[in-house]
Amino acid sequence: MSKTIRVGVIGTGGIATAQHIPGYQALEGVEIAALCDVVPGRAAAVAEGVPGARPYVDYREMLAKESLDAVSVTTPNFAHRDATIAALQAGCHVLCEKPIAMNLAQGREMVAAARKAGKLLQVGLHMRFETESQTLRRHVMAGDLGEIYYGEATYMRRRGIPTWGVFTQSRFQGGGALIDIGVHALDRALWLMGNPKPTTVLGATYAHFGKRTDVAAPRGLWDVDKFDVDDMGVALIRFANGASLILRACWAAHIEGNDVGTRILGTHGGASLSPLRIYRDLHGDMVDIAPSGLVEVRGHHVEIAHFIACVRGEAQCIVEPEQVLDVQAILDAIYESARTGGEVRLDA
Ligand SMILES: NC(=O)c1ccc[n+]([C@@H]2O[C@H](COP(=O)([O-])OP(=O)(O)OC[C@H]3O[C@@H](n4cnc5c(N)ncnc54)[C@H](O)[C@@H]3O)[C@@H](O)[C@H]2O)c1
Repeated sequence: MSKTIRVGVIGTGGIATAQHIPGYQALEGVEIAALCDVVPGRAAAVAEGVPGARPYVDYREMLAKESLDAVSVTTPNFAHRDATIAALQAGCHVLCEKPIAMNLAQGREMVAAARKAGKLLQVGLHMRFETESQTLRRHVMAGDLGEIYYGEATYMRRRGIPTWGVFTQSRFQGGGALIDIGVHALDRALWLMGNPKPTTVLGATYAHFGKRTDVAAPRGLWDVDKFDVDDMGVALIRFANGASLILRACWAAHIEGNDVGTRILGTHGGASLSPLRIYRDLHGDMVDIAPSGLVEVRGHHVEIAHFIACVRGEAQCIVEPEQVLDVQAILDAIYESARTGGEVRLDA
């Protein structure tokens, strides 16, 4: 029997209770030893449903007192850097929620800290772990689509401005819809395209819903007074290999419903998800391929299982730090381009 992995969770809000804690609980040989939340009583309340977990309000105290092997950082974005670096310096492997941080500079500090500590830093980009994403990536890597020259990444919600937490305040999150859900769409598309190196970014952001009280809000209105971020971001990104990608992300828009998907075009085939379809020419005919029998999984849980396998040394992390930093560099560049109106070079 292999060693029990002792895990701590920093930030016991929505994503920790919905995904990280149940994700660890589903795994053999993993013990959630400690939970921490800066709001007094919050970690203690969550700990009531997690036998054996000790609650803390200060993660530095938790890291000093518990001999943890691994930590999930599930705080709002502004606390990702300091909590992650503290955990790495305490000798823990870290699974930090997306985006890596508020901006590229912070992300670089975190990656450098992981290298210095010789510990794993995995970022919670769970869409890579969905079955259809994994399947399409295998086809792309096998060369079935030829050379990939174009992608589209979409994460559009008709009405999905978060009503909890601090998602709509730039000083806590670094941005709005673009950094919050655009990060998922962008990361998955880049990964499916083989992570080409970005060279230029032209972007725009909008905020046409967040400050208004006269729009439909079926799940309740967000905090309109504190809203100071984008509720939509779009961009054209070009890459060193000649490829390009169009990104669209929004929390609110007048559209039919939610629209979440990826399209990639290659010289010998194209593909879209979800659902996964592959389009090719075969013996003079155009054929549409729809894989059958794929087993749907909970992406977060596969992500967490992968993290623990990497901690045990049984797998190599597929969310590579350089890829995550490129994602953050593009997000920063979209915000800069939106501010200045010009194209931003990333290869200068
Ligand atoms: N991968 C996904 O699908 C997904 C989904 C939702 C949220 N997230 C990410 O997860 C993070 C948290 O989002 P959430 O929805 O759980 O937010 P949340 O507001 O529900 O929970 C965050 C918790 O962190 C606590 N916290 C803040 N600062 C802290 C600190 N210094 N030490 C300890 N606890 C601290 C807060 O009190 C709160 O309880 C964000 O970075 C977000 O982008 C990812």
